[in-house]
Amino acid sequence: MAEDQAKPAGPDLTQGISLSELADGGMLAGHVGEEEVLLARLGTEVFAVGAHCSHYHGPLAEGLVVGDTVRCPWHHACFSLRTGEALRAPALSAIDCWAVEQRGGKVFVKDKRSEKPAPRYRPAAAPDRIVIVGGGAAGFAAAEMLRREDYRGSIVMLSNDDAAPVDRPNLSKDYLAGTAPEEWIPLRGDDFYSDNGIELRLKTNVTGIDPRAREVALGDGGKVAYDRLLLATGAEPVRLPIPGADQPHVHTLRSLADSRAIVERAKTARRAVVIGASFIGLEVAAALRARGIEVHVVAPEKRPMERILGVEMGDFVRALHEGHGVVFHLEDTASAIDGKQVKLKSGGTLEADLVVVGVGVRPRLDLAERAGLAIDRGLIVDAYLATKAPEIFAAGDIARWPDPHTGQAIRVEHWVVAERQGQAAALNMLGLREKFEAVPFFWSQHYDIPINYVGHAEKWDDLAIEGDIAGKDCLVRYKLGGRTLAVASIFRDVANLQAELAMERDMAA
Ligand SMILES: Cc1cc2nc3c(=O)[nH]c(=O)nc-3n(C[C@H](O)[C@H](O)[C@H](O)COP(=O)(O)OP(=O)(O)OC[C@H]3O[C@@H](n4cnc5c(N)ncnc54)[C@H](O)[C@@H]3O)c2cc1C
Ligand code: FES
Repeated sequence: MAEDQAKPAGPDLTQGISLSELADGGMLAGHVGEEEVLLARLGTEVFAVGAHCSHYHGPLAEGLVVGDTVRCPWHHACFSLRTGEALRAPALSAIDCWAVEQRGGKVFVKDKRSEKPAPRYRPAAAPDRIVIVGGGAAGFAAAEMLRREDYRGSIVMLSNDDAAPVDRPNLSKDYLAGTAPEEWIPLRGDDFYSDNGIELRLKTNVTGIDPRAREVALGDGGKVAYDRLLLATGAEPVRLPIPGADQPHVHTLRSLADSRAIVERAKTARRAVVIGASFIGLEVAAALRARGIEVHVVAPEKRPMERILGVEMGDFVRALHEGHGVVFHLEDTASAIDGKQVKLKSGGTLEADLVVVGVGVRPRLDLAERAGLAIDRGLIVDAYLATKAPEIFAAGDIARWPDPHTGQAIRVEHWVVAERQGQAAALNMLGLREKFEAVPFFWSQHYDIPINYVGHAEKWDDLAIEGDIAGKDCLVRYKLGGRTLAVASIFRDVANLQAELAMERDMAA
């Protein structure tokens, strides 16, 4: 490192830190050479791990120590302090670990440790062939976890997308805004699949499942046999049933190809209409504003996101977007798109050379339905994510699972949930009995404002606001019968992590 280059912040941890500087459960960020390192104390033990999350580089020192783990403040990944392993998605890669020595009341960080954590489970009778339908969040996380747990059998991942698994949330955020390069988008490079013996077959449409023969049928007439099958087919955007919605300048957004197509059109577009004030619709609005495009949002609701976040947060989100120049046309819908004119039910017309439709998604249940699996506004799974056919599992946007926190069967469309379900399903396909009990979590990003939401509240009778929503520093609790079902926050990450922990403990009690 050149002498005038800045050294990482914080103390040099090789020189010794007094143990008394570190409270029990406390953390301290420092450095070892050029690397940023986090010290965390648990009772008399002290651990040294990489200071940044392997998901989006979140600062772990601003997170929460829970037992011998540390949770990331940004999107609630969780790492083992003992081994560095990424225990909870969205992080899928371990962080580094250093040896620590205690001497004379001081802690010294020594060399980096290179041993890999041993697989936690060694099931006696793992299946020979695992087939995963879907190359998205859940499918990828399942395949990765199978190999992480040292599963030696065959893994075939079938995806009708033409791109290998991608960081889908980015497609409506930085990538669309033009601030994240395309190299950041694949979840892993191509060599990951060959190196790990994962047979990833892209552009491969699965057209049927024969549960008796234990095989799936492919669009090209081929068949693939399985011992365990994971269905992770996700959801597809709802198309607008209005005249003109099939024109080339009218887009939906799910895949990398969709996002690329919007980026391409955005290069010459001057005015865009976003139909729908959903999370995706509004993230698209923010990304297009970042590209200097005039943006109008048309949606039937009175205020954006009210159903999920409540009146006060809905008003905030609206004001935030208006502050960035977005024009809302609420309590209105598009009735037709006539060339570059979007006709509104209210009688108005909006000019647009780019239209993005974000009016919700529909879970892709067709395969499951035709295979005779139980469907009820989602594919019904048990606490182990198994369908009624015990060798077929499901995860992600299609799965409706018994959520122990609400006591109800729920289905959500969250990235972190899909990944964690993929991981749990992987373990269960190996014959382990791992209940899926994670508290649902999602985040959404609008300009420089992240909204983090943990829990699940379809309705509430009390909404308690701590802090100041307009001041972008708040925590909102959604309660029913005195019990907190969910929490949304802006820049109160530790409180959001603590709320997650409280919900976990509430269930355990
Ligand atoms: C633009 C965008 C932004 C988002 N941002 C966020 C966010 O900020 N936070 C958040 O929590 N969530 C976000 N989400 C939601 C999140 O991405 C989904 O909840 C998650 O991807 C669901 O994972 P999945 O594995 O169930 O489905 P997907 O990731 O959709 O994967 C499904 C896969 O199945 C394949 N497939 C489907 N049918 C077949 C078939 N018959 N044969 C073969 N392959 C098939 C598809 O090609 C795809 O590869 C966002 C979604 C989008 C589209
Ligand atoms: S940056 Fe840590 S979970 Fe996303």
